[in-house]
Amino acid sequence: MHLARRLPSSRIRIKPNDRLAFIGKTRSGKSFAILLLLVLMLPWDPDSRNWDWQIWWIDTKADPKDLRRLGAWGFRTPDKVPPDYHRLLFKVRSLDDADELSVAKQVQALCWAAFKRAGTQRRNGKKRAYANIIIVIDEYVSVIVSKRSAGAGLLEVFQRGGGKHVGLMGGTQEPVDIPRQLVSQATMIFLFMLTHPPDIEWASKICPRYAVQGPEGLEPNIPDAHGFWFKWVDGPPEFRRWLYFKSISHFRAIIINRTSASLRAAAVESSTNERVKEPV
Ligand SMILES: Nc1ncnc2c1ncn2[C@@H]1O[C@H](COP(=O)(O)OP(=O)(O)O)[C@@H](O)[C@H]1O
Ligand SMILES: [Mg+2]
Repeated sequence: MHLARRLPSSRIRIKPNDRLAFIGKTRSGKSFAILLLLVLMLPWDPDSRNWDWQIWWIDTKADPKDLRRLGAWGFRTPDKVPPDYHRLLFKVRSLDDADELSVAKQVQALCWAAFKRAGTQRRNGKKRAYANIIIVIDEYVSVIVSKRSAGAGLLEVFQRGGGKHVGLMGGTQEPVDIPRQLVSQATMIFLFMLTHPPDIEWASKICPRYAVQGPEGLEPNIPDAHGFWFKWVDGPPEFRRWLYFKSISHFRAIIINRTSASLRAAAVESSTNERVKEPV
């Protein structure tokens, strides 16, 4: 199977106001990819509070494994940390079992809050607002208003977040069930393994090399458990085509500064066996 042939020599730059879409079935590696990119962008060190960034990880799944991992990566709920702590975990739960929408409403409100707060850098005594907020949404399906409507808060961030320094990293395992623009207007798209035929077909429409014809229909052209197809939609021409990566750990950190992270994409054909380990 021939995947990526020639790899771009330039670097991948993630800007604070980028909108990244991660699509893939459960356990395909979406959350780990998001975590790793965040960590490359915002390394964990004692001075990290000097960064002008804050991450708002919005968890709607309540998966104990995920929550343990987020804890290990330094994510804390806002009530447990000083206001300048930069890895925040918002556990959004349904307030009323009968009203599934309450999760969506809470997340939409969080999006508005981030949008209002970001973009200004005030240093009066110890208080200051973060200039850049990256919102992470682990599953779009549970936060959107409907298949057609992302919701006003999310849409505001998605369409105008850039100007206000709000970035968004959103994942879904059911791409067919979310509003199209959450993927079609993302600045970077990551397509991991999918299993349901309609989802595979959906992926192959945006990324023709995503699927191949198998004996029983379309199959994902993803030979590695956590491999993915990647496209930097508004990047330089060499990244505006789909490239295959064996693993997110093939994105290496090169330059990190206050407003963006540049990552070098390691060749998919490269012999490196380097793996970035997760804390346990
Ligand atoms: N690139 C990778 N290399 C090694 N292990 C990975 C990689 N990506 C994910 N994993 C592991 O696979 C499991 C599922 O990954 P996860 O990111 O939680 O998937 P998802 O968010 O898509 O459900 C986790 O145990 C994670 O540590
Ligand atoms: Mg996940």
